Amino acid sequence: MSSVSALAQRLAVVAGFENPQVSLEQYRTPPELAARLVHDADLQGDIDGRFVIDLGTGTGMLALAAALRGPTGVVGIDIDPDPLSTARDNEGRVGTVADISWLRADATDAPLDTGERTTVVMNPPFGAQDRNEHADRAFLATAARLGDVSYSVHNAGSRAFVESFAADNEGTVTRKFRAELDLPPQFEFHAEDSHTVETEIFRIEWD
Ligand SMILES: C[S@@+](CC[C@H](N)C(=O)[O-])C[C@H]1O[C@@H](n2cnc3c(N)ncnc32)[C@H](O)[C@@H]1O
Repeated sequence: MSSVSALAQRLAVVAGFENPQVSLEQYRTPPELAARLVHDADLQGDIDGRFVIDLGTGTGMLALAAALRGPTGVVGIDIDPDPLSTARDNEGRVGTVADISWLRADATDAPLDTGERTTVVMNPPFGAQDRNEHADRAFLATAARLGDVSYSVHNAGSRAFVESFAADNEGTVTRKFRAELDLPPQFEFHAEDSHTVETEIFRIEWD
């Protein structure tokens, strides 16, 4: 298995959104964060020999990271067709070996049944733009339906919400770690070049 920094280096070529839609919280997950999430999942045995679904795949960053390891297949789902075309181009740039399908669909109502052991990865919208607190709830519900394990990125301070959602949906949080996320300025309505937000990543086992 390559190191987390080697994985991040492979992902550095992933191009960002051409016309980011603020309402859909479209920003590229930083390669370092994607590499850390997928490397950790791989160390837990959650990538190799399993099917991987990336909900709200955007530029394809998390799907591509997984495809650089040993999954049986990967699907990246996004509601917006524009980033999916960028994700396809990024697949060529990164030069992944695993088979990836790019699917336009509402991730909260994804028409999928992999029939395999499945890991869901996601950096869902946080609801920051419309003050729609826990917009990530519907994504977690899909993870519970499609996967037996999921890894998701949430705003720092979401621990109580994520743990209680998991408990109510036959899930258990088994790992959590913090990571920093650089957001482009338009997502926080200020003039700085970028803005760092604290996030937490949760591994959940779904029964
Ligand atoms: C924070 S971005 C994640 C970006 C992606 N991980 C990447 O690194 O490019 C959230 C993504 O969720 C997508 N999205 C928002 N609502 C969605 C929905 N209901 N169904 C599917 N995708 C959705 C957005 O279009 C956006 O690409």
